[in-house]
Amino acid sequence: MLRSFFIQTVGCQMNALDSELLDAELRRAGYQPAESPRRADIVLFNTCSVRAHAEEKIYSALGRLKNAKQFNPRKIIGVIGCMAQKDRQLIFRRAPQVDLVVGPGRLHRLPLLLRRIADGGGPCLDVSADRSAEKTESLLGSFVPFTPLRVAEHRPVPHQAMVRIMSGCDKFCSYCVVPFVRGPEQSRPAAAIVDEVKRLADAGCLEATLLGQTVNGYKYRAGGRTVALADLLAMLEPIEGLRRVKFVTNHPRHMTDGLLQAVRDLKKASPYLHVPAQSGSDAVLKRMKRGYDAAAYREMLVRIRETVPGAAVTSDFIVGFPGETEEDFRRTVELVRQARFKNSYIFKYSPRPKTKAAELFDDDVPEAVKRRRNNELLAVQNTISLEDNRSLLHRTVEILVEGPSKVALKRTDAGESIQLVGRTVCDRIVVFDGPRKLIGQIVTVRIERVEAFTLFGSTLELTE
Ligand code: SAH
Ligand code: SF4
Ligand code: F3S
Repeated sequence: MLRSFFIQTVGCQMNALDSELLDAELRRAGYQPAESPRRADIVLFNTCSVRAHAEEKIYSALGRLKNAKQFNPRKIIGVIGCMAQKDRQLIFRRAPQVDLVVGPGRLHRLPLLLRRIADGGGPCLDVSADRSAEKTESLLGSFVPFTPLRVAEHRPVPHQAMVRIMSGCDKFCSYCVVPFVRGPEQSRPAAAIVDEVKRLADAGCLEATLLGQTVNGYKYRAGGRTVALADLLAMLEPIEGLRRVKFVTNHPRHMTDGLLQAVRDLKKASPYLHVPAQSGSDAVLKRMKRGYDAAAYREMLVRIRETVPGAAVTSDFIVGFPGETEEDFRRTVELVRQARFKNSYIFKYSPRPKTKAAELFDDDVPEAVKRRRNNELLAVQNTISLEDNRSLLHRTVEILVEGPSKVALKRTDAGESIQLVGRTVCDRIVVFDGPRKLIGQIVTVRIERVEAFTLFGSTLELTE
């Protein structure tokens, strides 16, 4: 009987959540977590296809497991997640040691498939229908949202939880593989979400992060009524024990006044808005098929600042999109300067098969130019992040203590007081020294030193 498993995860929070849920499902099915991939009877790679680099790393990791079965002939190697959905049979051809390929819309079948392979059923492929070939109706049944019941004793940290409220995406931004690998947009029933958050809060969860690719486009219709994200936030507000509700990722087109007012008025809704701009150039935004221009994005920023003063706004940018000129890039730099994002994630364009951008445009910005633009934009953003953090010097902030800091984790001489890390309601990272017992609590910290990505402080007192 195969008993131990190891899940290696890359990609976004959707993947992190899938891995957490799968971990719990496998334990429930009687498997034990292993300490390392080498020792595990089952190794699963939960993969990402958003850029070529993420996929190359997985194929090299699989290459390193080429001889793993010499030592353990019954070892099962599985590829799950977005690259499984995208590359399908190709994975068996490139890495014949793989036994199992399962897409993100089929994860509910994994325990069954593992049993089948262990019983000698041979290699196994289970992926959703091909979105570039099939009609939406037949797709819906094949991309099944993975929402098993949460089990408190199988959760990694009781005080925080990610909660899926939407799966898939229908936006088809021209560069993006997500609609193909995650399938059609589906909003989860509001009652099921409220129920899940209640159970999590009962088990000690203080902070829920609601997940969706376009989370502010959440829309669930039931009994002649439509529940939007603003309504859902209001439904979560009265949950006892719950203190904070975050939500990612927002799309600029769905940033309604109603949602901003909900964030302003509800005590638990975090004033932290990740709302990627992708570019500051209208020509590029048009080729990206983002559905807004730079002026509309700026207008949205003004509404955010007016309605929720002090909100932390963060963004993503792609540099080196096909045809991006120096002038287009200057417009992006200009937007970053004006917008004063708390931080921005910056990516070099990577052509993805089947996407419109890969089909229509040459990847014509040289790698060296992409790199330079990436570094320059990052430098502009980092200066702003640092200035922004400086404004918090000597001020007090409330943080949810997440656990030991990276430094503390490396040290073995852990005494009673260690270096801890937590986050403010605006998602700022705060490092400070304190007793372990503060982990999982909300405490007040005075900021004494700042860097672009981290605030350093000392505790004042327990908030409660
Ligand atoms: N749903 C979210 C995030 C999608 S993926 C959104 O709409 O913003 C996360 C980020 O990866 C994107 O915001 C984008 O900046 C980046 N990205 C997506 N496809 C990419 C590609 N082909 N090349 C480079 N970066 C990409
Ligand atoms: Fe990709 Fe655009 Fe959907 Fe985000 S909104 S997941 S960038 S297609
Ligand atoms: Fe990657 Fe899939 Fe997330 S492609 S970014 S892991 S939805």
